[in-house]
Amino acid sequence: MKNKFFWGVATSAFQLEGSPYADWAEWDSILNFNPNVTDHYNLYKKDLKLLKELGVNAYRFSIEWSRIQPKEKIWDENVVNHYQEIIDILTDSNIEPFLTLHHFTHPLWFIKKFPWHKDESVDKFTEFAGRIIKKIKGVNYWITFNEPYVLLLGGYLEGCMPPGIKDVSLAVRALQNILTCHGRVYDIIHVYNPHAKVGVAHNMAAFAPWRRWNPTDRLLSKIAKYFYNHSLLDAFLTGTLHLKFPFRRVMKISLPIKDKLDFFGVNYYTRVHLRFNPLKKMGVELRHRDLDGYGLTDMGWEIHPRGLEKVLRYASKLGIPLIITENGIATRNDRKKIRFMKSHIDVVEKCIREGIDLRGYFYWSLIDNYEWLQGLDARFGLYKVNFDTLERKPTKAAIYYSHLIKSRNF
Ligand code: FCB
Repeated sequence: MKNKFFWGVATSAFQLEGSPYADWAEWDSILNFNPNVTDHYNLYKKDLKLLKELGVNAYRFSIEWSRIQPKEKIWDENVVNHYQEIIDILTDSNIEPFLTLHHFTHPLWFIKKFPWHKDESVDKFTEFAGRIIKKIKGVNYWITFNEPYVLLLGGYLEGCMPPGIKDVSLAVRALQNILTCHGRVYDIIHVYNPHAKVGVAHNMAAFAPWRRWNPTDRLLSKIAKYFYNHSLLDAFLTGTLHLKFPFRRVMKISLPIKDKLDFFGVNYYTRVHLRFNPLKKMGVELRHRDLDGYGLTDMGWEIHPRGLEKVLRYASKLGIPLIITENGIATRNDRKKIRFMKSHIDVVEKCIREGIDLRGYFYWSLIDNYEWLQGLDARFGLYKVNFDTLERKPTKAAIYYSHLIKSRNF
């Protein structure tokens, strides 16, 4: 029997609704002016109608831990009921909920007292996730962590995201703890729902040498490809994570995650060109170049649909279903958004035809939202948001997406 293909859109709670108790609310002062961002927390019914308007059959979203547990000893059942109501609305509308448990943000108490490099973080997160899993009904697709590597690069290596640390050995400890949580949460979900499907959403990128002729640039792009794209896949396959930072020896870390994955989520956006530059951190400099003629996005990222095929091919070595849990473009130009979408969905079609077990495509994002370091300027939405009036308006890409969903029969 043919598998159902999930046509969806993806969001995350904090990016749509903010939260006064989250680490990011303190981290980024831009949120002082728009603390509730799109006010999705109150306007959720309106926004869920947009899903129906689009005709999607799946919706990926997250719950905001800091709203549910604003203080270590406070658990707000009303907030859990709020998210349950969203799930019920989706199920009643025949839209499959894909629930992300962790999408970058944390309660302030957690990040201050038990940041990921401390081993207590594992119990704290598992306790939270366990209570949610026990309580929430109607979710068959769970994503434990969104982009653990981005969280670590931002939070532990670059220091540009909470907890704002720059330390390789703490980053490794944090990664161990996050993935240990994945393993535990995977088991808990299966205890409560043996048929559930559990995955992670991994950010994957295409990499290329800045100067093709330069052996060091070529080596760097190979190392980056292995570290950024592959090492996590291998850890799921073997239970061992091999970490190789440029010019450092390989680290081997064993992790309790072997085979603890029912599907693999791929978040794909762009290609990066790398070159060796001794003046840059770890000797690596990166940039985006418009080599295919698709242009750059408003965030300066290269539009490179062929890269999607490459990363899907790498990921297919896992031998489990793949789902594109995010793919999208920041632009105010509707034609560009449509072109981006069409070119990437053409790749999806090609990959399915060639036998890759790809089960879904989630466009990022439903409505314009808070784009972390870029604030409110990066316009990823299929629906535009006016951040003064909070009005939502469809872009032409929204209409086009509905049309694609109807016309492509995977
Ligand atoms: C991904 C994040 C998501 C969003 C998109 C543009 O890396 O998972 O929250 O910000 O980028």
